[in-house]
Amino acid sequence: MGNESFAHLADCRLCVNVDHIATVREARGTDEPDPVRAAVLAELGGAHGITVHLREDRRHIGDRDVELLMSTVRTFVNLELAVEDEVLGLAEVWAPAQATLVPEKREELTTEGGLDLSLDPNRIKSAITQLQSVGTRVSLFIDPDPATVTEAALLGANAIELHTGEYANSVDRVTADREIERLVKAVKEGVRLGLGIHAGHGLTYENVQPVAAITEFEELSIGHSIVSRSVLVGMERAVFEMGQLIREARG
Ligand code: PXP
Repeated sequence: MGNESFAHLADCRLCVNVDHIATVREARGTDEPDPVRAAVLAELGGAHGITVHLREDRRHIGDRDVELLMSTVRTFVNLELAVEDEVLGLAEVWAPAQATLVPEKREELTTEGGLDLSLDPNRIKSAITQLQSVGTRVSLFIDPDPATVTEAALLGANAIELHTGEYANSVDRVTADREIERLVKAVKEGVRLGLGIHAGHGLTYENVQPVAAITEFEELSIGHSIVSRSVLVGMERAVFEMGQLIREARG
């Protein structure tokens, strides 16, 4: 699936990551809260897509969740996964509309850095081809660095998701502005190469607008902050409020 298939959805798609609904469920090992129900409510709140990360250790989202989401989600599923045979095989069977390849370490709390494309480029290229062969649009989660963006295009990715973690962790305005500049440089390279341009990680109600204001971003993937607010105000409202901030930033 190419970039044109997604273009009609919105100026800036909001993909809501519901992993942490499953994290709460797994804390008790029961069947609630249910990420599939959360996904339906996120869509009612205006989500343009639903993201889940099927981790190798299945610490939150499980295979059954993805299967149910594939048949329930009315927008589209963006499946995050590592370049690893077992999950790639499952993704090939499920054929989600979009897959985002991410690095994965068992000991990490969340995805820590972007994919290192130089480590095993042939392996990444073959994962991209495998997913594209079933019609899945493939995005690579990378650090905001123009040279890495160029590599992503050379490997045949349809899109890139720029890691906004450094921006989100900025402790002052100067650092945040510098990180925005870094993102803009990487975005420009992505546009030059015709890639779909996404962003995600660490985005919150407080820090999303300077990123959303970069109009070349077609998609923002946001999880922790939306799920946190949803505990207090409900998923539908939490998603709607994030959507409002993004629309406001686009003017
Ligand atoms: N994008 C990617 C590739 C991720 O791995 C994550 C975290 O799972 C996110 C976006 C969402 O990050 P956050 O939960 O901090 O909003």
